[in-house]
Amino acid sequence: MQIDILTIFPSFFDQFLRHGMVRVARRSGRLDVRISDLRAFAEDRHRTVDDRPYGGGPGMLLKPEPVFRAMDLLGLDPGKQPAAGTVPLLMCPQGQKMGQKDLEDFSGAERLVILCGRYEGYDERIVEAYPWKRVSLGDYVLSGGEVAAMALIEGTVRLLPGVLGDEESALRDSFGEWTGPEGLDHAHWTRPPQYRGRGVPEVLLSGDHGAIEKWRRENSGQQGPGHRDAVTGNSGNPASDGGSPDRNQDGVSQEEIPGE
Ligand code: ADE
Repeated sequence: MQIDILTIFPSFFDQFLRHGMVRVARRSGRLDVRISDLRAFAEDRHRTVDDRPYGGGPGMLLKPEPVFRAMDLLGLDPGKQPAAGTVPLLMCPQGQKMGQKDLEDFSGAERLVILCGRYEGYDERIVEAYPWKRVSLGDYVLSGGEVAAMALIEGTVRLLPGVLGDEESALRDSFGEWTGPEGLDHAHWTRPPQYRGRGVPEVLLSGDHGAIEKWRRENSGQQGPGHRDAVTGNSGNPASDGGSPDRNQDGVSQEEIPGE
């Protein structure tokens, strides 16, 4: 998959692209990320990419020229459909709220072209000229689309074939890792079996795989507040123990992968 990102803050992505699954995917050749710095496409010597809205009002808008010129160079023509397999994505709070199904769709594309806004919004000619899918991270306003684009990329890349190890992929398939907002994964524990007075459900320590599977199925989607305490018999605020293991469905350390 190729991902083109259009942004006025290319360096936002420096660390992001060098860590975790995104890095793994890039190193294995499954993912090629290219960043277009919109300022490089500005026409004046101040590299201006924003301007005041006609008719007045607060805030600034992303100007059309840098975006059109960057899109020209990427081979996307205004008013035309992009090549088959290319999906242009416009990050904005007015877009459709991104869900797991969207990420699955994106992971099937050959190429994503992601425009990250800044300021109050886009000159409407940018919006009209390309067949964008408008994508929102959620019902709140960020200062720009970069963080939303990173969420989109991270969620998409781990769905690319071969990016997660066999074990994790199989896990995803057999359990249906994402079953909707009410059907989240069951809770998890790792060693030690006792920590600061907090235990682990006995069944998970039993070695009885049938019983463990049954327990997990019965306890999927029940990670609401207090649930963990109910199953472990613990009391108190789980957030305050400072020792609960981070959940990591990938089964991969979230530490930086050494060697870069
Ligand atoms: N830009 C500003 N807010 C945003 C949001 N909620 N989602 C995507 N892009 C944005």
